[in-house]
Amino acid sequence: MVESHGPVRPLCQAQVGDSTGDRMTHWTLESIPWDKFDRSKVDPELVKVVKAASMVEANGADYGAYLCAVFADDPEFQQAAREWSMEEVQHGKALARWAKLADPSFDFDAAFKRFSDGVKIETWRTASIRGSRSGELVARCIVETGTSSYYSAMSDATDEPVLKEVCSHIAADEFRHYKLFYEYLKGYLAKERVGPLRRFFVALSRITESEDDELAYAYYAANHADETYERRRFVKAYFRRGFAFYRRQHLERSVGMALKAVGLKPNGRLNAMITGIAGRWLRFRIAQLTRAGA
Ligand SMILES: [Fe+2]
Ligand SMILES: [Fe+2]
Repeated sequence: MVESHGPVRPLCQAQVGDSTGDRMTHWTLESIPWDKFDRSKVDPELVKVVKAASMVEANGADYGAYLCAVFADDPEFQQAAREWSMEEVQHGKALARWAKLADPSFDFDAAFKRFSDGVKIETWRTASIRGSRSGELVARCIVETGTSSYYSAMSDATDEPVLKEVCSHIAADEFRHYKLFYEYLKGYLAKERVGPLRRFFVALSRITESEDDELAYAYYAANHADETYERRRFVKAYFRRGFAFYRRQHLERSVGMALKAVGLKPNGRLNAMITGIAGRWLRFRIAQLTRAGA
């Protein structure tokens, strides 16, 4: 069993529903040219991470419910969170559909059941696990920073035309989600006493969770159903495949968005320094995991 960093379930589950959510986004599952799928351009390693990502995205309805509970007296934000969660669910559906094209044996429903059975969900939360609403919104900005760069990097890395298009749509959505949470963050910072240092530590803790169990468990549930879950093994396996396609521009943009979320200048020397260190560390880590056969 693993513990999800994004609690979940009750409240506005009914409103979240199962819609593909086309109110904010400009694309739908029907607008994707699935018939252009080119099997010869599929990277089997990438298929594994797409399957894992489809499940984490599909959990968006639960995250939306959690946000509605945390922001219980803010109906405007609740509505935004519902629409946001519908878009996340749509991301999951699009990625799952592509994964099924690439690997017809992929059974999303069975894999998602394994994933949701294994991830311990904190359904009882009514206050943010980040200590404040501003903290919650900083964490949301960091997640959207991660996802927007992740799908941009994936879109740039693949030559498969359908996955390229799906990922570029998702990356644009994730960037818009970042802006959405950042706008609400500004409002809540004016009401709550959350200093830059606290924001920095929330961001740091959320960044370090990126190598955490939820992604690793999703990777396991999608790709190694008949084996036993070993946390360290699957964290490494996911990391090697999920971050191998990051390039400097993706890191630089992520660092800028994260710096902005904690109230620092997004571009400039600090960004260049962090991007340089992160890039070297990432290359070293990927090479190390590849040598070890992770
Ligand atoms: Fe998403
Ligand atoms: Fe998002």
